[in-house]
Amino acid sequence: MPLFKKTAVEERSVPTHIAIIMDGNGRWAKKRGLPRTAGHKVGAEAFRTIANYAKSIGLRYLTVYAFSTENWKRSEEEVNAIMELLEKYLREAIRDMDKNRVRFCFFGDLTRLSPALQAEAAEAVERSKQYEGVQVNFCLNYGGRDEILRAARAFAARCAAGEANPEELTEEEFSNLLWSAGVPDPDLVIRPSGEERISNFLLWQSAYAEYYFTDTLWPDFGPEDLELAIAAYNKRSRRFGGAK
Ligand code: IPE
Ligand code: IPE
Ligand code: MG
Repeated sequence: MPLFKKTAVEERSVPTHIAIIMDGNGRWAKKRGLPRTAGHKVGAEAFRTIANYAKSIGLRYLTVYAFSTENWKRSEEEVNAIMELLEKYLREAIRDMDKNRVRFCFFGDLTRLSPALQAEAAEAVERSKQYEGVQVNFCLNYGGRDEILRAARAFAARCAAGEANPEELTEEEFSNLLWSAGVPDPDLVIRPSGEERISNFLLWQSAYAEYYFTDTLWPDFGPEDLELAIAAYNKRSRRFGGAK
């Protein structure tokens, strides 16, 4: 006889890699008559809560979409506010890092960011290398097409230098030229906010990901919402093109 009845949470299996499009900050603020930046602020808190929760349930990889290559189209005021918030939260994350043992990684071209933000990011990566907790891949100035183009250019350059042969390129080698090199493909991609599109997120890596959409806006997204997504994922039958 088991000593205690297992709860639903204990019975579900946690995927290895969850990716989240952190969307809906602006609408969350608008609904409250607040400036969009207020939504980004609460959205940053939601990220912190989810990262800690992910660690507590033993998730190995959490990839979050924080700023896309297309988000530069927004007003200078909004972009600046987002960048300032990112800097502040990264600084705090670095402070918490020893306690949380979260490993930080960045996907995206950080050279377009302010020197201060680049320095915070580099420090976060360096200091957290040794940690064994969840790996958080922070997508900043990230675009799936940009990522694939860069990999194609890098491979073409190797071919031009006589170091590689186009005929011999494999999917695995190509994957290793992406920002996500070494990270297993996402099992579950979550998009809050009611939008049902991928907006240039992990285009190559999501070939066989399960998608989960919810109307909850990102600033309201909490551990219960993550559990709902994991529960939905547990009901899916993944076939990867095979027959089961
Ligand atoms: C996501 O929230 C944050 C970023 C894209 C930087 P949005 O700012 O896109 O919020 P909505 O979609 O306008 O509600
Ligand atoms: C996707 O959200 C990017 C991030 C959440 C960082 P967007 O708000 O930029 O996407 P669209 O414009 O609605 O497709
Ligand atoms: Mg949006």
